[in-house]
Amino acid sequence: MSNAKTICTVCNYIYDEALGEPTQNIPPSLKFNDLSDQWKCPECESGKEMFQPCSCVSLPIYEQTCVAHAAIGIANRAKADDVSLAMSKTMPVGQLVAQRPLRACVLEQLGIDYCCGGKSTLEDACLKKGLNVEHVLEKLFAADLKGNHFDEKDWTKADLKDLADHIITVYHQPLREELTRVAQLSAKVARVHGDNHPEMIEVLNVFNQFKSQLELHMQKEEMILFPGIKAMEATGSPQIFGCGGGIDHPIEMMTQEHDDAGEALCTMRRLTNNYTPPEDACNTFRVLLDSLAQIESEMHQHVHKENNILFPRALALLQMAPSSR
Ligand SMILES: [Fe+2]
Ligand SMILES: [Fe+2]
Repeated sequence: MSNAKTICTVCNYIYDEALGEPTQNIPPSLKFNDLSDQWKCPECESGKEMFQPCSCVSLPIYEQTCVAHAAIGIANRAKADDVSLAMSKTMPVGQLVAQRPLRACVLEQLGIDYCCGGKSTLEDACLKKGLNVEHVLEKLFAADLKGNHFDEKDWTKADLKDLADHIITVYHQPLREELTRVAQLSAKVARVHGDNHPEMIEVLNVFNQFKSQLELHMQKEEMILFPGIKAMEATGSPQIFGCGGGIDHPIEMMTQEHDDAGEALCTMRRLTNNYTPPEDACNTFRVLLDSLAQIESEMHQHVHKENNILFPRALALLQMAPSSR
């Protein structure tokens, strides 16, 4: 009999192939992959794409959607001494991973079940495995501070084409997926907790606007500005856009939109008291706050590379172009 488990990354519902889903008349032994493509999570109505194998819940999502965060965000946030993200041996292992998905690597290496056994405290889980909890805590702290080193390229000297491609691959594409995932989380938290936490309804409204503006913004960068910068670098000639203006106009517009996105993030941080979960917050609520903090951290790096590296270098190139003025 099949006994694989697949978890909804939005609400943590687990589809257990051994049990099927009686409330939906899904018989035991039906594999997750054999469920209809239209199948929805019975708890939160998320689609199949929001599910991950139970053996490693957050990591694939993390790798796909928060790659940039792995490079810089984690190290920065770990240094931030954020009390809400403090780690202790009395915390449930599921919560430890929800806070920082990279911790899953450490727990997996040690054979600690953070998924289906995620409610056990770290202390209990270590006891069960015969591990020294203090040593495990040290490894988890090290994972928090560990940054990937794929981002060490000096972008102040690299080709602008490479930098633009890097921004699209490392920030834009993962961010699109993350915005979709977090939109579902925000909607659920507002629906379930809106009565007791009306601020989460405001967060939902701010997030939805932030999402739609950012999606449009990235599309404009990818379809207009970045190709213009690449063409200018390749040909040495300034690019003229449909409105008759040069590259400086779209750069000015994108910079303004970055400010707008930054304001939306500040508003969400303020509304959530610096992403601090209230006492009655369920796991979904906590995952949402952590996801928002991740998006904010990633946006800081993303916008930094555009505002402080790509755009000034493109404008400098424009000034050097023979027929620019
Ligand atoms: Fe961008
Ligand atoms: Fe941008």
